[in-house]
Amino acid sequence: MNTISPIGVFDSGIGGLSVWKELSSALPGESMMYLADSAHAPYGTKSKKYITERSRVITSFLLDRGCKLIVVACNTATGAAITTLRREYEVPFIGVEPAVKPAALASKTGHIGVLATARTFKGEHFIRTKGMFAGAVEVHVQAGTGLVELIEAGLLKSVETHDLLEHYLRPMIESGIDQLVLGCTHYPFLIPMIRNILPVGVTIIDPAPAVARQTRKVLENFRGLNPGPDSPVHQFFTTGDPGPLELIIKQVSGNQPAEVIRTI
Ligand code: DGL
Repeated sequence: MNTISPIGVFDSGIGGLSVWKELSSALPGESMMYLADSAHAPYGTKSKKYITERSRVITSFLLDRGCKLIVVACNTATGAAITTLRREYEVPFIGVEPAVKPAALASKTGHIGVLATARTFKGEHFIRTKGMFAGAVEVHVQAGTGLVELIEAGLLKSVETHDLLEHYLRPMIESGIDQLVLGCTHYPFLIPMIRNILPVGVTIIDPAPAVARQTRKVLENFRGLNPGPDSPVHQFFTTGDPGPLELIIKQVSGNQPAEVIRTI
């Protein structure tokens, strides 16, 4: 593995930037290429076949540009496509899965909530993980249908987003959850709103820090960790409108302007 090559990161849209942010602070020496497949978002309502095909196109795009490792910064694409990607390509892939295990271990009420896309709940990873903890806790699942579209449209503070979110969280709150797992990388952008809706004492679990730790571990195992160029290069691509991505990049990178290139 060539240490100076970039890490490739992709998602159905802007959500994976919540993972990119963790990666860039945990691995400050690494250059990265981020691709948002916003023209094809949301993935959560699409078929496994469709998501796998999009994941192949994006993986090939990132590998053609020299990426040494791919982070699938999307729970939905991880569940639908990562097994196929690992079989078809030689580079290591890191996926994102709803963090059921830490939530189950931390729960005192015995009730945890998972907010994710409908497709993620159908994925083999989620079904297996949920099964492993079924005896220990009750897992309350809720598909966040419509939230990704609102986030992609930049409506992070709108009344419409708030009302839909409250509608989804209310039944979980009434069931007595004390852990809420964010099973979609778009949702961390709604954390301020989620905190306002949840009672005090409910912990929100975002898997991004664990993904960054796992990426470091895999890079070390492959002797691919970049000890650090003075200024790592971050490139951003989108298949859709660059505007929303540019806005969120500014927000997560402390006002650093970024150029987003429209592609495939
Ligand atoms: N960020 C994706 C995920 O983590 C969103 C899926 C979608 O596009 O519906 O699942």
